[in-house]
Amino acid sequence: MGEPVIDVRDLSKHYADIKAIDGITFNVEKGEMFSLLGPNGAGKTTTVEILEGLRDPTSGEARVLGVDVRTGYRKIRERVGVLPQDFEPFDRLQPREAVAYWAQLFDRTLTKKEIDDLISTVGLSDRAETLAMNLSGGEKRRLGIAMSLVGRPQLVFLDEPTTGLDPGARRELWGLIRQLKKEGTTILLTTHYLDEAEQLADDVAIMNHGKIVARGSPAELIAQYGRGSTIVLAGAGEDGLRAVQARGITAELQGVDVVVKVPVASDMRRMLEKLASIDTPLNEIYTRRASLEDVFLSLVGARMQEGVLAT
Ligand SMILES: Nc1ncnc2c1ncn2[C@@H]1O[C@H](COP(=O)(O)OP(=O)(O)O)[C@@H](O)[C@H]1O
Ligand SMILES: [Mg+2]
Repeated sequence: MGEPVIDVRDLSKHYADIKAIDGITFNVEKGEMFSLLGPNGAGKTTTVEILEGLRDPTSGEARVLGVDVRTGYRKIRERVGVLPQDFEPFDRLQPREAVAYWAQLFDRTLTKKEIDDLISTVGLSDRAETLAMNLSGGEKRRLGIAMSLVGRPQLVFLDEPTTGLDPGARRELWGLIRQLKKEGTTILLTTHYLDEAEQLADDVAIMNHGKIVARGSPAELIAQYGRGSTIVLAGAGEDGLRAVQARGITAELQGVDVVVKVPVASDMRRMLEKLASIDTPLNEIYTRRASLEDVFLSLVGARMQEGVLAT
């Protein structure tokens, strides 16, 4: 394997007494989809902006496409694509105009066909005449991705690309991001959505308070930190909880569901048998394998609110 596309060593960024990044080390190989996953304030945007050459690190090393971010930031900005957090396109431009304008800012002139191809790549061909202010949230982000691609970058930074979008729009964007990866683009994606990292990333670094607290593929992280499986007695309620606890089994109530953790896989059958004999009314019994959500809970004690991490 050649030199990593991103190579970060012991990188820190401090603001007065805030350690926005506190000694992180990671690398990203060519063609990989790498995710920085963490709650708000973890240091994701700071990391990405240092790698984009927009902020200076306090200490440590960072190389992007073989170039040192401190000295080569101009070269880096020309060669990477960026979708900033909370991206909003200019209200009064149509998608084609926005892409052309963005290209000009980087001293590039795109042909009409090149622009049409970009618009088509992000699925906006039938919205190409619509003012950006009238696009949906998901369409705006897709336009932002088209703009990030004007220089045909090998590396793209997507900072929380789906935050605030509805589930349908998120799925569409996931499809587009997968397509970029398929074409060989290296992608650094930040997110606070666990399912997003689980669905998209080859490699995940979990960040909290400026540090990387775990690193691996979603499957590796789940195997290492997921603490087994879960049995859910859906709709069993407080009566169900009492009945389960009366059998000496540790459980908790989540909404109207009774949830039982099974840390060791070989205990699963025995536990299911015990729970199946409980005769309080319930809707169904199902089992759930550990997810990145469980990894997060066990590593940083973060809580979930509607699928989003909150500490
Ligand atoms: N320009 C700044 N000045 C002071 N503190 C900052 C600045 N930018 C970010 N921070 C702080 O650094 C921490 C990390 O922020 P950020 O990188 O935006 O996290 P994330 O993107 O994971 O939400 C936060 O505590 C934030 O308040
Ligand atoms: Mg951020």
